Amino acid sequence: MDYFTTAGAARRLASSCIITGVYAGGKLGIAAQDINSATGGQLAERVRQGDISTSLGSCTVLPALPGVKAKRVLVAGLGERDEFGISQYRKAIAAAIAAVRHTRIRDVANYLMLEDVRGTSPYYLARYAVETIGDSLYRFDEMKSGRKKHGMSLKKIGFALAKRADARQVALAHEHADAIVNGMSLAKDLGNLPPNVCTPSYLARTAVQLAKKNRNLQTRVLNEAEIKRLGMHSFLSVTNGSSEPAKLIVMQYKGTSKQRPTVLVGKGITFDAGGISLKPGIGMDEMKYDMCGAASVMATMMIVATLKLPINLNVVIPTCENLPSGTATRPGDIVTSMAGLTIEVLNTDAEGRLILCDALTYSRRFKPDTVIDVATLTGACVIALGHHRTAIMSNDDDLTEELRVSGIAADDRGWPMPIADEYDSELHSNFADFANIGKREGGAITAACFLGRFTKDMKWAHLDIAGTAWRSGGQKGSTGRPVPMLTEFLLRRARALP
Ligand code: BES
Ligand code: MN
Ligand code: ZN
Repeated sequence: MDYFTTAGAARRLASSCIITGVYAGGKLGIAAQDINSATGGQLAERVRQGDISTSLGSCTVLPALPGVKAKRVLVAGLGERDEFGISQYRKAIAAAIAAVRHTRIRDVANYLMLEDVRGTSPYYLARYAVETIGDSLYRFDEMKSGRKKHGMSLKKIGFALAKRADARQVALAHEHADAIVNGMSLAKDLGNLPPNVCTPSYLARTAVQLAKKNRNLQTRVLNEAEIKRLGMHSFLSVTNGSSEPAKLIVMQYKGTSKQRPTVLVGKGITFDAGGISLKPGIGMDEMKYDMCGAASVMATMMIVATLKLPINLNVVIPTCENLPSGTATRPGDIVTSMAGLTIEVLNTDAEGRLILCDALTYSRRFKPDTVIDVATLTGACVIALGHHRTAIMSNDDDLTEELRVSGIAADDRGWPMPIADEYDSELHSNFADFANIGKREGGAITAACFLGRFTKDMKWAHLDIAGTAWRSGGQKGSTGRPVPMLTEFLLRRARALP
């Protein structure tokens, strides 16, 4: 999406549509005040008459007004003045975009940027605006036959500046946000694609293509024979029931010479039927989203390579299906992980940890500064945190805080959960070094404890995105989370923020 900046009065901008707002009680936003005085008080009068709603999420489009250059003035309801924060700002923009998406309007100028939004800056206000628009305009109609009706004419967004000096911040925000929107669209597409299309091989091809498009990026795809040679028998035990070949995707980005890399590991189960510990049928289709961890780390890699951030980043994606069959792993089977630790597979549906543990062990070869795995790992996480926050579990409190703060800044929040010995001991096995499950209660934490046994002496965090990676019901679809959180984390490490 193209952009422009403007520091002049709202009334003087020649644009198709300027976005202004009004708070509950009729208090006009900054640009609305200007439009109001340009029109001799018309705006305030219409609010008083009740023609313009002030409640958050509503908006009113006014055609050409005397004294105002723009062809239209969109007045967004902003709700209570003292409650106007980041999410209210984003909601107002989403409503404005929804109002113009079926029109032929080609450009909008966002004057809501001038409002005083608690705890933010022009950089973030511009970034959230582009990200919100990207999210509102996203459609997945690749699999529909017939004429695709994406026909969206919006091509350009304007950012109103309080002072000219903010233009640099806004330019940077626009560059970052464009990359984030593209990354999130990739993550969403991969998640939304059906499991008969988005197979492990499809994910691998996507990673190879990304490397072809970015000179600073390399991709290597390991096949089952190579995975076996590495000793990843825990990973391979999950693919036993499937006829789609498993892949280990390894991506490498070098943006600086000196510096140990950050490694992102993503769970890439392209369909999780549970294996012999078969899942119930209701809603099982949603287990196509069990590769959203993989999609989000691949998308983050694409963003980092696009922005050419001065950091080193590796991505490791173990990917396969988890299906039942005569050749599938049985509950009770014992497998040996790449680390040499033996695992009793008490439940074949706890497969994510079985593929991730070998990928985490593999990550050691990069001598990482930090390793973060991202996974739709447990239903228990959804019970704990619902669909609003990603669970953050780590063996390092500073890393937990870094991720938590990044989530807040990126408006893609996480929440810390503990990793502790009391939980870890639930993994006891009578026959192997340990089992792949603990008790049902606290299941997100015992899953993290399992992974923690493979990340000793590494600075590591685990993000459980089971509740945040996709939406169910009428709005079923990928969210692209936690791409914003991960990107923010890396932008901070790259010192690429204003
Ligand atoms: N992919 C699922 C986790 C999941 C379930 C995410 C539902 C989102 C919604 C994972 O592989 C799984 O099946 N986990 C089991 C673990 C259990 C067997 C210990 C679970 O959460 O039920
Ligand atoms: Mn499972
Ligand atoms: Zn799974």
